[in-house]
Amino acid sequence: MSKICERMHAETEDITKIILQAAEKARAETSSEPEPGLTGKIKWPIECTVGPGLEGAIACSTKIGYVNGAKGWLIYQGYDIFDLCAHSTFEEVSYLLLHGHLPNKEQLDEFCAKLRSFLHIPHTLRTVMNLPLEQLNPMAALRFGANLMRQRLTWRDNESARPSPESAIYTDEDSIPMETKPMGEEHAIYEFRKKKRQRPKDARKNADDASDIESCMHLIAGMSSLTAAIKRIREDRLPIEPDPTLSHAGNLLYMMSGKRPSPEEERLMDVSLILHADHGMNASTFAALVVASTMSDIYFSVGAGIAALNGPLHGGANEQVIKLLEEIGSPKNVDVWFDKAASEKRRVMGFGHRVYKAYDPRARILGPLADYVTSKSGSKRAKTLLATAKKLEKKVATTLGKEKKIFPNVDYYSGLVYESMGIPQDIFTPLFAVSRVSGWTARILEYIAYNRIFRPRALYVGEFDKKYVALNKR
Ligand SMILES: CC(C)(COP(=O)(O)OP(=O)(O)OC[C@H]1O[C@@H](n2cnc3c(N)ncnc32)[C@H](O)[C@@H]1OP(=O)(O)O)[C@@H](O)C(=O)NCCC(=O)NCCS
Repeated sequence: MSKICERMHAETEDITKIILQAAEKARAETSSEPEPGLTGKIKWPIECTVGPGLEGAIACSTKIGYVNGAKGWLIYQGYDIFDLCAHSTFEEVSYLLLHGHLPNKEQLDEFCAKLRSFLHIPHTLRTVMNLPLEQLNPMAALRFGANLMRQRLTWRDNESARPSPESAIYTDEDSIPMETKPMGEEHAIYEFRKKKRQRPKDARKNADDASDIESCMHLIAGMSSLTAAIKRIREDRLPIEPDPTLSHAGNLLYMMSGKRPSPEEERLMDVSLILHADHGMNASTFAALVVASTMSDIYFSVGAGIAALNGPLHGGANEQVIKLLEEIGSPKNVDVWFDKAASEKRRVMGFGHRVYKAYDPRARILGPLADYVTSKSGSKRAKTLLATAKKLEKKVATTLGKEKKIFPNVDYYSGLVYESMGIPQDIFTPLFAVSRVSGWTARILEYIAYNRIFRPRALYVGEFDKKYVALNKR
């Protein structure tokens, strides 16, 4: 761990304790859950049932991350999310995702120094400052920014592809075996074959290649500077330069507020960044991979990830959770609100997940952290929102939790943590992107090493043989 991060950990032992307690609770509650199949050695072909929304489909094989929905596990490159949150930092986790192993001290120092240098994106920021940011949703501005960053480094400018041996295939188990039946009456059963493929001649370089990883680091750092600048410009303030004595999380907070964060604030943001960094073949990761698979640019691919993340069913849910809690108003209104919402078949934002049918480990950490930060420094409004959230969680647990295994997801408590840190609501989803960009870029590098363009099929249920009728006869 770098000196800066060592200090942050030493001064926030309370937060480490909370994470370790959450880990203990998770282990105790899920140890008796059965192991899902297909997690050991894979026997090809694999048969899987595919439901609407590609539920259950295998898009690719990966070593980057694993989500075990039955047990509520989240693993990055073999490491448990609880261990990473308790002992690691976002910088180290980004290195891990991109390189596949934890760095030694020298590698980490070099990585952190380069990441810090990439926080300076003056050319991009100058262009961003000319955008009508007050009229743009911050996620739209962030997507522009990601594409504008392309001015500097791109794969297109570095075409020296070199071959590499094919790595072993582990299936992306996060969506299989299916813990739920596909929704809807009809579904298809597919047999997946492992096709031995030569590396295509036009494939880009292997994930070990330093210049590819530089593009990823450029984006990881740049998302942070962009988000901070967008927040400030929308408040009629000028962007500020990063402080070289702060961690990545610390700089993100500093560049947003202009104030050096406390060790607790820095650590809370660091933990939140670690928790959001990667999460299987989610919609934004898939969107980013689809664009990358066309041999488009990594900056455009990340732009696609940002666009997908913006939706209220995905990263946009963290903002919606606060809106929903504001609508409920106070803990005493929860029962009436919930019964009405249930009768209208309304979705409760921040609950449910395609993969988790157990408690989301990210919510297990963020829930107690929301408690911690709100009791320490939350406003009266933040305290009411949190009390309402806890009451609503209890209500959902006894209803949707029992009936449909619906539990809080990552978005339920992340907004409450940010709220108590004084971060405005419209910056919550950009913060998700600031973190998830490390997962997007790591998976893009991994995928394009053996790239094949994504091209699923649609089942045509339309008509044939219709005769064209001239406009004046319709
Ligand atoms: C995340 C989400 C999109 C996953 O969707 P999915 O895997 O397609 O799940 P489905 O839409 O098929 O839902 C399955 C069942 O659970 C119910 N359900 C799922 N999430 C629900 C929620 N948040 N509130 C109430 N009911 C929910 C559905 O109504 C459906 O019920 P039915 O079988 O009686 O029709 C969904 O849970 C959701 O919309 N959650 C709220 C938004 C959110 O928090 N997103 C952030 C995800 S990290």
